Amino acid sequence: MSEVRLAPLGRILARLRVPGDKSISHRALILNAIADGRATVTGLAPGLDVRSTAAALEALGAGFARGPDGSSVRVSGPADWRARGTIDCGNSGTTARLLLGALAPRAPADVTLDGDGSLRRRPMARVTGPLTDMGAAIAAHGEPGRLPLEVGGRPLAGLHHRLEVASAQVKSAILLAGLAAEGETVIDEPVASRDHTERMLSAMGARIESAGGRVRLAPGPVAAIDVTVPGDLSSAAFFLGLAAAGGGETRVEGVGLNPGRTGFLELLSRLGAEVEIEPADGGLEPHGDVAVRADGLVAIEVAAGDVPGSIDELPLLAVVATQATGETRVTGATELRVKESDRIAAVVAGLSAMGADVEALPDGFVVRGPTPLEGAALDARGDHRIGMALAVAASLARGPSTLAGAEWVDVSYPGFFAALAGCGRERVTA
Ligand code: S3P
Repeated sequence: MSEVRLAPLGRILARLRVPGDKSISHRALILNAIADGRATVTGLAPGLDVRSTAAALEALGAGFARGPDGSSVRVSGPADWRARGTIDCGNSGTTARLLLGALAPRAPADVTLDGDGSLRRRPMARVTGPLTDMGAAIAAHGEPGRLPLEVGGRPLAGLHHRLEVASAQVKSAILLAGLAAEGETVIDEPVASRDHTERMLSAMGARIESAGGRVRLAPGPVAAIDVTVPGDLSSAAFFLGLAAAGGGETRVEGVGLNPGRTGFLELLSRLGAEVEIEPADGGLEPHGDVAVRADGLVAIEVAAGDVPGSIDELPLLAVVATQATGETRVTGATELRVKESDRIAAVVAGLSAMGADVEALPDGFVVRGPTPLEGAALDARGDHRIGMALAVAASLARGPSTLAGAEWVDVSYPGFFAALAGCGRERVTA
């Protein structure tokens, strides 16, 4: 396990680009592997999660040719979905859940999906339940509803399903299955989640429409499309949050602005930060530049309706809230307990060690501020976003900190610590 030392950063003046969006990268690979034809994906996310997806698809028979710098890849579909032993999804929930949906109607033989210790603990019944209702054959090798899971291709029937939790992963798995099912698939969402899959399927010629919290998909073939992946707003968030909490300014260029992902920007603005968004033209997904500056924050209430759009940024929000005046209360976020770690417990433990006034709730947390943060011995707890959120806290602290498990940030953002170290003065990093 690698440990990094983190020094306080002082006032932030940062201008940077971040690596490609993880959610869009997974989908660009999986959907093009299902589609007819060849496509080039550029600006692919460099982290281990997307590598897990690429390696899984290659093992399942999709044609892949990597460009010289690794950030572009040519995918030739449709994959023949041959089974090649156990497919390792690593730490990636998106890989496991979307592949379950892709394989359920397509695998010509049984395929077993597995993952690391964290992924084996994460709930899969939310995906296997609706897929089984469609006719899928999925069997757990161990605990029910957990990886490893064996999936065999079967003819499926379209389904009308209401999501119990607003989850883009579950929605996407059902859509991937529904594309090859008999009859229409309809999904109702309690609160809108990111719609990367719907946008990409529509651009690929699928008959799909979304309105009033309902997604309707008619089965049929889809055609490969080139995808240019924008920067990952969830990675940019660490630098935007740092500027908001520490005073100063961060400008991030070329990031994705999917409306299902911009919740953290809205929360920063409610906290009193100035958030400037400059949308750019063109592309499959909304994207553009974002600048955040702040000089003093006030506490906010975050409720269930805010959660899907900011789910990955809520541990970071806890860090930012330590510098806001008053009590910030986040509720309706039980999902945080079943991410790569129990993110409520992990962020509360890290911030408490730094002297913050923070309390865990069953479905969220309370932070009272402002409190100065002290340097401390921190632990990423095997979770990339906890590692990065605590690194931001360490940058705001009065003394040096250490972060154990620093290597976990490579799951989504290799190069994060170098970019963070560059934030104390104005410069552009890629
Ligand atoms: C993701 C959806 C979210 C998010 C995850 C990526 C996706 O998970 O937390 O990091 O790419 O669809 P859920 O759909 O399970 O909420």
